[in-house]
Amino acid sequence: MSMTPPDDLNYERFRALGLRLDMSRGKPAPEQLDLSQALFDAAASTDFRARDGFDCRNYGLGAGLPEARELGAELLGVSAAQVVAAGNSSLELMHDAFVFALLHGVPSGEEGAKGAKGAEGTPWRAQGEIAFLCPAPGYDRHFAICEALGVRMIAVPMNDDGPDIDAIEALVRDDASIKGMWCVPHYSNPTGATYADDIVRRLAAMPAAAPDFRLFWDDAYRFHHLTDTPHAPHDMIAACAAAGHADRVLMFASLSKVTYAGGGLAWLAASPRNVAWWLRHTGVRSIGPDKLNQLRHVRFVRDRATLDALMARHRALLAPKFDAVDAVFRARLAGVPEVSWNAPQGGYFISLYAPPGCARRTVELAAEAGLVLTPAGAAFPYGVDPQDRHLRIAPSFPSLDEVRLAAHGIALSLLRAIEEQGRRAA
Ligand SMILES: Cc1ncc(COP(=O)(O)O)c(C=O)c1O
Repeated sequence: MSMTPPDDLNYERFRALGLRLDMSRGKPAPEQLDLSQALFDAAASTDFRARDGFDCRNYGLGAGLPEARELGAELLGVSAAQVVAAGNSSLELMHDAFVFALLHGVPSGEEGAKGAKGAEGTPWRAQGEIAFLCPAPGYDRHFAICEALGVRMIAVPMNDDGPDIDAIEALVRDDASIKGMWCVPHYSNPTGATYADDIVRRLAAMPAAAPDFRLFWDDAYRFHHLTDTPHAPHDMIAACAAAGHADRVLMFASLSKVTYAGGGLAWLAASPRNVAWWLRHTGVRSIGPDKLNQLRHVRFVRDRATLDALMARHRALLAPKFDAVDAVFRARLAGVPEVSWNAPQGGYFISLYAPPGCARRTVELAAEAGLVLTPAGAAFPYGVDPQDRHLRIAPSFPSLDEVRLAAHGIALSLLRAIEEQGRRAA
């Protein structure tokens, strides 16, 4: 089948093409994974020793290989002592941090359960119903963690410059049951928004009723620029320390979308007290991470400059796909009332906003035409988009031709959903 859409393409003709395309998850394309092929040879069968001679085939080093911590420190802009080099997934670290907080509490200004100030405070689960702030649209897997662990989610609006900081300040000031907040500070999933400097400062400084309040600072897209003018990365750990809340932030990042998705290297960075807390609890569940994988990554990714060069190659593959979606949407959707979309400057997603009440139907129509989209509502707590407007588009995985075709299919499905709504209203 030709990948060039005919000029007179409409929804029926698109459906008749019998395509099978998946635009639902932000996975790297095979060509992106090929960029890191040299990883396989970076810890050769005879060269498995770390810088200091440590045998990476063995147990140990719960905080990670020193050079893997140093690489994390360079990339995240903190000291190596504040970085733990862990396993393959930052989401896993977020989940575990949440579970540790629920079961054991976190280092806190309050008198701890064991009596010592600054030791672990009261376990979150022993404090009655607790809640987390969830900027929405946001990352569905963050919300899934809250749901799985029985933590109430409070949606706060996500704007173009970050979450609604006035609403957040008002909520956390008086309500000690609010224990934290999910943050994706750079090129957020799924709106692409990067937090403004002022919002970062206010999050670090705001008074919180809960002495054990935590920002889960998920810096998944810190390096994932799509333009020539990358945002300078935020330094939230320093901002929190400067505001007198050194323990407020737990920062997470990984190389999942730098080398291999789910086969990279994940880091946690935080205050010394938080790092000690983390190591105390992870020491119970593991005798150390996979140092061979860490060694491979240290040798392959090396430093900030090498990483930036690799990210430029990712961008060369990704940016044309984002541009293609934008061009098709401009051609088909420009001027359609109440329809808008963003042109993100980084990250993995485009958010498309349908007229109220049309997102769910658009996803259904797309599915009938062979296009898998992220379920409508997925970017909201409990899967409920109150206005049924938001659609998350993930253009990274399919080929450029497929992405272009899929964008036509999405636009045509949306137009058909709007048409149906109009007929029902008439
Ligand atoms: C915001 C965000 N955080 C975390 C992840 C997953 O990261 P990891 O592969 O390190 O678990 C993703 C993946 O899409 C993401 O979008």
